[in-house]
Amino acid sequence: MSRSILVTGGAGYIGSHTVLQLLLGGYKAVVVDKLDNSSEIAIKRVQELAGEHGSNLTFHEIDLRDKPALEKLFASEKFEAVIHVAGLKAVGESVKKPLLYYDNNLIGMIVLLEVMAAHGCKKLVFSSSATVYGWPKVVPCTEESPISATNPYGRTKSDSTWKIILLRYFNPVGAHPSGHIGEDPRGIPNNLIPFIQQVAVGRRPALTVYGTDYKTTDGTGVRDYIHVVDLADGHIAALKKLADPSVGCEVYNLGSGKGTSVLEMVAAFEKASGKKIPLVMADRRPGDAEIVYAETEKAERELNWKAKYGIQEFCRDQWNWASKNPYGYEPQAP
Ligand code: UFG
Repeated sequence: MSRSILVTGGAGYIGSHTVLQLLLGGYKAVVVDKLDNSSEIAIKRVQELAGEHGSNLTFHEIDLRDKPALEKLFASEKFEAVIHVAGLKAVGESVKKPLLYYDNNLIGMIVLLEVMAAHGCKKLVFSSSATVYGWPKVVPCTEESPISATNPYGRTKSDSTWKIILLRYFNPVGAHPSGHIGEDPRGIPNNLIPFIQQVAVGRRPALTVYGTDYKTTDGTGVRDYIHVVDLADGHIAALKKLADPSVGCEVYNLGSGKGTSVLEMVAAFEKASGKKIPLVMADRRPGDAEIVYAETEKAERELNWKAKYGIQEFCRDQWNWASKNPYGYEPQAP
C-alpha cells in the first residue's frame, strides 16, 4: 500500500516539482491548493510526467483557512505526513498588505496544525527560507547562524509527539528537464531568474541589476541558487528523516553551497539561451544582502541529500521551460 502525503501548495512552483518526485518515489500525493498564484494545468502536467504513477495524485481546490473542508479531507484519508509549501511570498506585496499575509500564511498554518493534531497526523515538513539569515555577518550560513526572523514552528517543539523538519530554501531556480512544469509568477517578477527569463522571451526590455558596488568579484550580489528538482528531492529526504525516532524539530539548509553573482547568472543564461539580455545598472535594492550562501554539511550528513545540478543545468532547464511556455501556463499574452 502506498504511503499518502498531503502537499499544501502542490500546484505551485516548488510544490509541483515536489509532488512529481513524490509520485516517482512511489508515494501517493494529495494536493490542496487554492490556485491563487498557481495553475491546475501544473497538476495535469505532473500527472502526465509521472506516467504510471500519475493515478496516485489527487487534487482538491481548498483554502487552508477553510477548516470544515480540511476536516472533511482528513476524515476521508489517513496521511502519513504533510509537506506544507502553501503560502503567499511576494515581499513587496506583504509590505503593502500585511494583514492579507498574516491571515493567509499564519491562520492557514494554524488551521492546518489543528486539523492534523485532531487526526493524529503529527509529521510535518515545512518550507522556510534563507531569508531568515538576513544580511549574514559570516558565510556560509549554517543552521546555527543567527536569524533575524523567528519562526512560530520552532515553538511547537515543546510537544514531543510532533516531528517537524524546517527546510531553509536558498534561491530555487530552473525547471523540470522536460520543460513541462516551471515557475510562472503573476505580474512583474520579483526574483532574478524569472525576470531574466521574461527578458529573454521578449516580454520585458531589460534586466535591472540592483547594485554594482557590493564587495564581490564583479560588484553584484551573490546568492546560492539551487535547482528546483534538487530542492524537491530534499523534501523526499526530509520525509524519510521523519521516520527517525530521534527527530523532534530539526532545521536544514537546502542550498548548493556555492555563491553566484548576478552577472555570472546573466552570462550563463545568455549562453544557454543564445539571447542577449540587455542590462540597466541601478542602485542597490533596499533590504538586499551582499553575499548569502549555504553551509550544506548538515543536510548531507543527516538527510543524505546533496544538490546535484549547477549553473549550466539551471539555465538550460529554465530556458527549456521558458521557450516552450513563454507565458507560463497561459497559452498566450494576457
Ligand atoms: N536582482 C537583480 N535584479 C532583479 C531581481 C534581482 O539584480 O530584477 C538581484 C538581487 O539584487 C540579488 C539577486 O539578484 O542580488 C537575487 O535576487 P532575488 O530577488 O532573486 O532573490 P533574493 O535572494 O533577494 O530573495 C529570494 C526570495 C526570498 C527568499 C530568498 C532566500 O525572494 O523570498 O531568496 O535566499 F527568502
